[in-house]
Amino acid sequence: MALRTPKDRLAVAIDVTGRDAALRLLEAVGDEAGIIKIGHRLAYSGGFSLIEELAQSGRHVFADLKLLDIDQTVAEGARSVAATGAAYLTVHAYPKAMRAAVDALGPDPALKLLGVTVLTSMDDADLADAGYSDTAETLVMKRARQAKAAGMPGLICSAREAAALRTAVGPDMLLVTPGIRFADGDIGDQKRVVTPQKAIADGADILVMGRPITANADPKAAARRAVDEIEAGLAKRG
Ligand code: C5P
Repeated sequence: MALRTPKDRLAVAIDVTGRDAALRLLEAVGDEAGIIKIGHRLAYSGGFSLIEELAQSGRHVFADLKLLDIDQTVAEGARSVAATGAAYLTVHAYPKAMRAAVDALGPDPALKLLGVTVLTSMDDADLADAGYSDTAETLVMKRARQAKAAGMPGLICSAREAAALRTAVGPDMLLVTPGIRFADGDIGDQKRVVTPQKAIADGADILVMGRPITANADPKAAARRAVDEIEAGLAKRG
């Protein structure tokens, strides 16, 4: 999917339980955000079929399903998600899993795979606990390079890493960043937040925003505000 307009760069996270709540939220957001992100909470509570329904109705759908399994299972999962017409799918950035998904989809697929480098909820101590000796920063860079080598078109990363990753992986890799907050907004449980304008100015391609839009009394207005900031951020890039 080409990023033609600022709206195409905004993915709203529909993090609710059940189809009915999702449909209500989608109605409240309208088409102010170009991408609808469906993650585990909605997919595992009866919302999985919305991926295909929304895609077939012409929406750009981001299936945030974070695949990681044996190669054949990842390959089959990626093919099944591609058949729904979704535009984006997340895969944990393990080299074998990424290669399996890339090979399964073939050259230049409509479904763009995004590698989850290191979850932003993991710090160095959590990584040590999980058996890794690299710091989060080192592992993010290592996995970003492995994603590029595997032929992945994009990465999920923190907006704070966007500038360094852009240098490491070049201009073509899609950098998709959660942890976005308006300057005057609630941070919630996110720790390292960045405003929409700064994230885009620093080289992020697509912003993932949940609560700053979905918990706002006027979700449409909040999405419009994010899109305005995206436009301003693009102008800053020159
Ligand atoms: O509400 P909020 O804007 O914090 O939502 C962020 C969304 O991005 C959630 O759907 C969350 O699962 C997702 N996400 C994240 N950090 C990551 C990867 C995904 O917050 N590293």
